[in-house]
Amino acid sequence: MAFRSTMCCRLILGRHAGLEAPTVRIVQLSSRGKVWRVPRFYSGATQEENKVELLSLGDSNTSPYTHVAENTSKEQELAIPRSRRRILKDVLPFSAFLTDSFGRRHNYLRISLTEKCNLRCQYCMPEEGVKLTPRAQLLSTEEVLTLARLFVQEGVDKIRLTGGEPLIRPDVLHIIGEMRKLEGLKTIAVTTNGMNLARLLPGLKEAGVDLLNISLDSLVPAKFEFIVRRKGFHKVMEGIEKAIEMGYNPVKVNCVVMRGLNEDELLDFVALTEKKPLEVRFIEYMPFDGNKWNFKKMVSYQEMLDRIRQQWPDLESVPGGYADTAKTFKVPGFQGHIGFITSMSDNFCSSCNRLRITADGSLKVCLFGNSEVSLRDCLRSGASDEELLEIIGAAVGRKKKQHAGMFSISQMKNRPMILIGG
Ligand SMILES: C[S@@+](CC[C@H](N)C(=O)[O-])C[C@H]1O[C@@H](n2cnc3c(N)ncnc32)[C@H](O)[C@@H]1O
Ligand code: SF4
Repeated sequence: MAFRSTMCCRLILGRHAGLEAPTVRIVQLSSRGKVWRVPRFYSGATQEENKVELLSLGDSNTSPYTHVAENTSKEQELAIPRSRRRILKDVLPFSAFLTDSFGRRHNYLRISLTEKCNLRCQYCMPEEGVKLTPRAQLLSTEEVLTLARLFVQEGVDKIRLTGGEPLIRPDVLHIIGEMRKLEGLKTIAVTTNGMNLARLLPGLKEAGVDLLNISLDSLVPAKFEFIVRRKGFHKVMEGIEKAIEMGYNPVKVNCVVMRGLNEDELLDFVALTEKKPLEVRFIEYMPFDGNKWNFKKMVSYQEMLDRIRQQWPDLESVPGGYADTAKTFKVPGFQGHIGFITSMSDNFCSSCNRLRITADGSLKVCLFGNSEVSLRDCLRSGASDEELLEIIGAAVGRKKKQHAGMFSISQMKNRPMILIGG
C-alpha cells in the first residue's frame, strides 16, 4: 500500500534544548483517509508512559495519546507480543501533535473567553478601543469545551482562562465546572482584572479554579485609574483580600511595570509580600498593536532587580520549575514571593510549553507570532477530532525556535493583547 505523509507528518532528529533524548520522532502516514501513526524511539519516555503507548496502540479506535495508564493491568501488558513491547519501550511519551520540532511539549493551554473588558488598560489596548468580533464568530460554550477536551486528551494538563476579562463572560462558571470533569486536567487557572472577583469567588472556587492571577498595576487609586482608564481600585483590592481569605496561596498579582508610570512603586509592591501570601509578578512591558510601546518605557528585569536589591540586599532566588516563566525571589522572613516575567530582556522560548486559543477560536502557537489557524472554522465545517489534530499538529510543527526579539516584535503586526489573551 502506498502511503502519503500528511501535513502533520514530522520527522524530528537531533538534540533539543532541555531534553536528554537524542531523537524524537513520530511519523504520521495516511492512505485513503485512514491515518497511521508510527511512533519511533524516544528515550525520554518513562515505563509508565510506554505502557500507555503500548496498550493504546493495540486498539485502533483509541488515540495513542490518551491517558489509559491507570487501567493498565499486568495481564493486559503481557498480552502484547514481546517484540512489540520491546519496540514500544522507547516510544514517544507525549502527543506528537503537541510536540514541536524543537522537542517542546505543549501541555499548557490558554483560552481567551472574551474580547470584551470592563477596563481599558493603556498597555493592553488602544485608547479608541478595539473592533470586536461579531458574537456569532466567537467560540460558543460547546466549542470551548470541545477544544478543551481535545487538548486535554492529547496531554494538556493546565488550562488558563483569560481574555479580555474572562469573569464578564456569563457562562464562565459553567465552563469551569465542565472543564473540571476532564480527566487529566490537573490545573485550572484564571487571569482576571479583579473587578468582579470578590462577588464571583465562591462560585469560582466551587467550580474548581485552582490558581488565580489578579492584575494590579498601582497601589495608588488615582494612578490605577489613570493606567486602566476606569475606576475600580477598591474592588480589585477586595478581590485580592477575599482570594487570600478563601485559601488561595499564593495569590498571584500581575503588575506591568512602565517607566514614568509605576516603576516608583516597585518597593511598595515588594513590601506587600511581607505579611500576605502573595506572589507579585513584575511583568516587562511588551509591545502589541495599539499600545504605543517603546523601548524607553520598558523597565528591564535587571533594572527592577537592582532597585529591589538596594532595599533588600539579601533577596533570595527561589528555584522554579523547568517551564516557569517567572524568575522567583523572596525577601527572607517575608510570607510571599516576587517574580519577574522577562519576556523582553530574557525570553523563555526554549522551554515554552504554551499554546493559546483566542476568543474567536484561532490557535496561536506563539504570543509574539502572527501566524494563526482558525479552529473555529474547522469545528464549524464538521472536522473530526483526527482532522482537528492534524491541523493543530501542523501549526505546532511550524512553531519557531524563538521569537524575533523585542525590536522586531515592536515592528510586527500582531493583535492588541486584549484580542489575544495574556
Ligand atoms: C490581557 S490580560 C487578560 C486577563 C485580565 N483582563 C487581566 O487583566 O488580568 C492578561 C495579562 O496580560 C497582561 N498584559 C496586557 N498587556 C500587556 C503588555 N503590553 N505587556 C505586558 N503584559 C501585558 C495584563 O497585565 C494581564 O496580567
Ligand atoms: S489587561 Fe486585562 S483588564 Fe486590562 S484592558 Fe487588557 S484585558 Fe482588560
